[in-house]
This record gives sequence, C-alpha cells and structure tokens, in this order.
Amino acid sequence: MLRIGVIGTGMIGQDHIRRMTQVLAGVTVTAVTDVNAGVAAQVGASIGATVHPTGEAVIADPDVDAVVVTSWGPTHEQYVLASIAAGKPVFCEKPLATTAEACLRIVGAEAAHGSRLVQVGYMRRYDTAYRELKKVLDAGEIGAPLMMHCAHRNASVPSHYEKEMAITDTAVHEIDMVRWMFGTEIKAARVLVPRKSRNGGDLRDPLFLILEMDNEVLVDVEISVNIRYGYDIRGEIVGEHGTASLGTLSPVHVKTSLRAADPVPADWRERFLAAYDVEFQEWIDAITRTGAPAGPSAWDGYAAAVSSDAALAALHSGERAPVTLTEKPKLYDGVPA
Ligand SMILES: NC(=O)c1ccc[n+]([C@@H]2O[C@H](COP(=O)([O-])OP(=O)(O)OC[C@H]3O[C@@H](n4cnc5c(N)ncnc54)[C@H](O)[C@@H]3O)[C@@H](O)[C@H]2O)c1
Repeated sequence: MLRIGVIGTGMIGQDHIRRMTQVLAGVTVTAVTDVNAGVAAQVGASIGATVHPTGEAVIADPDVDAVVVTSWGPTHEQYVLASIAAGKPVFCEKPLATTAEACLRIVGAEAAHGSRLVQVGYMRRYDTAYRELKKVLDAGEIGAPLMMHCAHRNASVPSHYEKEMAITDTAVHEIDMVRWMFGTEIKAARVLVPRKSRNGGDLRDPLFLILEMDNEVLVDVEISVNIRYGYDIRGEIVGEHGTASLGTLSPVHVKTSLRAADPVPADWRERFLAAYDVEFQEWIDAITRTGAPAGPSAWDGYAAAVSSDAALAALHSGERAPVTLTEKPKLYDGVPA
C-alpha cells in the first residue's frame, strides 16, 4: 500500500484525495497540509490522516512514501526540490514551477539525484481519445503527420483569470500534448489575435496559436475561453494519406424534432474525469513496482514552461518566437507515457 502525503488541500487536492481514497487501488493518504489550516484539519479528519503545519513536515513524515503537490503554482518548486532531497517520488500538479529557471533547477536536482522521482500533472496523455489518436498515428494508419488542428474552448473562466493565463494555464495543455503526440519538441510559436469576442471582457479572447514542431509538423490551436456553450476540446491530425481526430465522447446520440444532438461537457472536470483516474492509478502502480514514475517528467514540465514563455513573447511582439531549450540530461532520453 503506497502511503501518500498531500500538500495543498484545495479544489484539485481534495479531488485527488477523493480518487486515492475512494476510487483507486493500492494507495492510502496518510498526511496532509495546507496554509489554510482549517481546510487541512477538515480534510485530514475526514480521511484519518495526520495534519502537518508545513509541506516540509509532510515530506519528512516517515509514514509518507510519496508526495502529491497540489498547492498554488508559485509554491511548487520548493516542495518538489524538498521531495527530491528526501529521495521521495513526487507528483506535482501543473505547472512544475512558474518560471523556466525554476523548472531547470528541478531538472538539475533530479539529474544530480540520478533517477526519476518527479511526475507532472499533464493528464491529457491519459485520456482515452488522445491515446487512441496517438495509436492511429504511431501505427502509420494516416501516414506521416503534416498538421494538427486543435481547439480548446471553455464555457467561461473565473474572475481571477488574467490575460496571460490563456497561454500559461490553458494552451499549456496543448503545448504538452503535441510534444507527447509527435514525440518531438516545439521549435517556435506565433500568436494571432482574431476579432475580439464581446463575451471576453478585458481578455484578448479568442487567440490563435501556431506551433512549429521540430519535425516540421505545424499545429494550430484556437483558444476560446468564453465560448458559452460548454467545454469543447478538439484535435485533428492531417497525415499524408488520411486524417484522424478525437471522436465525440458520448455513448448515445439523440435525434429528435429534425435535430441531432450530442451532449457537451460543462467543464474540464467532467471531460477529463476518467483521465485523472488513469493518470493516478498508473503513477501509483509505477511507483509501487519500480520506485520511479513513468509519466510526464520534470523535463516535460521545463519544456512546457519554455514553450509557453515563447508563446507569450509571440503574443506580446506579434512576431515568431523561437523556443530555446538547454541540453537535455540523459535521464530524460525516450518519450514517456
Ligand atoms: N491538471 C489540471 O488539469 C489542473 C486542474 C486544476 C488545477 N490544477 C493545478 O493544481 C494546482 C492547485 O489548483 P486548485 O485549483 O486546486 O487551487 P486551490 O486554490 O483550490 O487550492 C490550492 C490550495 O493550496 C493551498 N496552498 C497554497 N500555498 C500553499 C503552501 N505553501 N503550502 C500548503 N498549501 C498551500 C491553498 O490554501 C489552497 O487550499 C495549481 O497549480 C493548478 O494549476 C491542475
């Protein structure tokens, strides 16, 4: 039984605790903490876990085999570095850290440790539809990939959502997904700004990203965060002799009164619910079997940060922005997940 300590018992922390205590096998949550001591106490009491005053105390707890970091982004670096220093596997929700420099410090610490301990929460790699799409691509069914068209549409975003989050919080999921899908890095980004939606308030919404992959595949990503009708994630790969796209996800299609209707998920929780379960079960199984994670690595967290920085630069300048990565440590050879 893998014993987990959770740092940050907010929205997604509580959701991951629910899946680890009620849905998944081979795992138990033994310790929690949160800067909001009241929330931590409540969550800890509900599952019989020890409540610690700090994240460092969770990591040091002898009853904690592995750590889950679900606190706010700016605090991730310190807990991931402390977990590496303690030699404990750590699952960190995205972002790995909020700057490329901080991600690189984590990459350096893990490379110095000499084996993988860090996994980053990019859950699209665990979604059935994306996995099936990658299988079709890897089997050569549509020939060599040439382009991918993506759309990331949110019905709405919370009031604390700021302009740059369209790239750093939203498009970053596509940024990670295409690196994994095509097994290659992004070499440059451009951002075009279409006519502004009147639903978007002060935001520049929608945005249109163009990502150039190292293998010359071109990816376009529509980011619309006030689309109103629901949460809609699309992806279509155009190959040399065919196309493959994410299917509609509903098991039932209704036709009535001269109309055909497919349900649309309300938000990302509904759309990716099963992917989070698979993500955590595979993480737990890998740690239990081998002591090391096999999913998105610290390098993936770093590459996503540098790529989204380039997209931000492109948004501000209106120009093509190159993605420049440092040399990849040997530890990260091969494509995970
Ligand atoms: N993979 C995904 O799709 C996905 C989805 C949602 C959130 N996230 C990520 O998960 C993280 C948390 O997001 P959330 O929506 O749960 O936020 P939230 O605000 O609901 O919860 C964060 C919690 O962390 C606590 N916290 C902050 N600093 C802390 C510290 N130093 N030590 C201990 N606790 C601390 C806060 O008090 C809060 O309870 C963010 O990095 C976010 O980007 C990822």
